[in-house]
Amino acid sequence: MQIGTPLSPSATRVMLLGAGELGKEVIIALQRLGVEVVAVDRYPHAPGHQVSHRAHVIDMADASALEALIRAEQPALVVPEIEAIATETLLKLEAEGVCRVIPTARAANLTMNREGIRRLAAETLALPTSPYAFADTYEALQSAVEGPEGIGYPCVIKPVMSSSGKGQTKVEGPGELKAAWDYAQAGGRVNRGRVIVEGFIRFDYEITLLTVRALGAEGQVQTHFCAPIGHRQVQGDYVESWQPQPMSPAALATARDMAAAVTGNLGGLGLFGVECFVQEDRVWFSEVSPRPHDTGMVTMITQRQSEFELHARAILGLPVDVSLRNPGASAVIYGGLDGTGIRYEGVAAALAEPGTDLRLFGKPQAFVRRRMGVALAEGENVEVARDKAKRVAQGVRPYS
Ligand SMILES: Nc1ncnc2c1ncn2[C@@H]1O[C@H](COP(=O)(O)OP(=O)(O)O)[C@@H](O)[C@H]1O
Ligand SMILES: [Mg+2]
Repeated sequence: MQIGTPLSPSATRVMLLGAGELGKEVIIALQRLGVEVVAVDRYPHAPGHQVSHRAHVIDMADASALEALIRAEQPALVVPEIEAIATETLLKLEAEGVCRVIPTARAANLTMNREGIRRLAAETLALPTSPYAFADTYEALQSAVEGPEGIGYPCVIKPVMSSSGKGQTKVEGPGELKAAWDYAQAGGRVNRGRVIVEGFIRFDYEITLLTVRALGAEGQVQTHFCAPIGHRQVQGDYVESWQPQPMSPAALATARDMAAAVTGNLGGLGLFGVECFVQEDRVWFSEVSPRPHDTGMVTMITQRQSEFELHARAILGLPVDVSLRNPGASAVIYGGLDGTGIRYEGVAAALAEPGTDLRLFGKPQAFVRRRMGVALAEGENVEVARDKAKRVAQGVRPYS
C-alpha cells in the first residue's frame, strides 16, 4: 500500500474505531509512518483522540452513524480497536469496496460475540476448548450446568458480548448460579441476555500468543509468532503480564498450530492476540482478538517492534520483525478513585529505577477499577522485571 502525505490529496487515511490506550499506540505508530489518522470513540478526549489528525465522537454500535462517518471520511483502512461495533455495517461497506476492514470485516463480526468465535474454533476448526454451552434464560443455564451431560462445577459464566471480565463470574456450586446469571445480565455490553457457560480449566498458566499476518517479499501472506506472553488476571481483568513465558516445546508448538489455524481462517493482515490455557503439554484455545491485546503492552519494552508497530506495519503491507529484545513485564495502574482531571504523584521517583518506563493514557475520567496507565520494566529475567514493573505501578499514585 502506497503512503502519501497526511492532510493532502495523496494521504493514506486510516480510521481507528475505538481510541483507547491500545488505539492510541497504534495511532502513534501510524503517525510515525506518515499516515493520516482519524480516531473515533464514544466520548470526547479519548486517549487516541489526543494524538490523531481528526477526532470524532459517535456511538459505534449505531449502524447509520457509523456508515455516515466512514462515507464522509473515506478511509482506505478501517481498524477496529474494540468489539462493540456495528459489524454488519463493516461487512456491507467492505463488500461494496468502500474500505478495507482490518483484518477482515468477517473477523470483526465473528469475534465481537463469544458465540461466533467459539463455534468457529471448536466446531469448524476442531481446536480443543473448555466444554461450553449457551443459554438465554436462567432455566436453560441451570440445565446446561446441572442437567445430565451438564458442564458441572466449577464453571465460568460470561455474557456473550463483553470484554475485560465484565459480567463474568466463576461459579463454585449451585448456590452461586443465580447471582452469576444476574451479574451477567447487568454486565453484558448489549442487553441480549445470552450467556456462555464454560467448564473451568485448571491451567498451570495462560498465555497470549501474538500472531502477525504480514506480507512477505513476494507479496504472499506470512504468519509470524511473537514470544509467548504470560499474564495474571483478577476477576477476568489483566493486572500484570510478562514476556517470555517459558513453555515446553510441545506446548509451544501446539499453541502456534492453533494460532495459525484460527488466524488463517479469519484472514486479512494484522496482529492477533491468541489466548490459550496451558497445563503441562496440553493447550486449550480460549479466545482471540483480531487486534493488539492489552496483555501485549509489555512488548513496548521487550520487542524490537511493539505489538502496535507490528499491527501498523502489517496492515500497511510492510515487513515485520517479531523478535524479542529482552525479557520484561507490565503492571496495570488503576484509577483507585472516581474523578475527572486527576493528577499523578510519585512519577519521578517511580521512574528513577533504571530499565523502567510508563504510559499514562490521559483518560479524562478515572474510576476505581479503570485502567489509567501501565508500568513497564525490563530485566535479566521475567521475575526481576515483574517485581520492577509492580514497584513502578505502585509508585505512581493517582489523586484528585
Ligand atoms: N473456562 C475458563 N477456565 C478457567 N479460567 C477462565 C475460563 N474462562 C475465563 N477464564 C479466566 O478469565 C479470564 C478472562 O476471560 P476471557 O474469556 O478471556 O474474557 P475477556 O473477553 O473478558 O478477556 C481469562 O484470561 C482466564 O484467566
Ligand atoms: Mg480475554
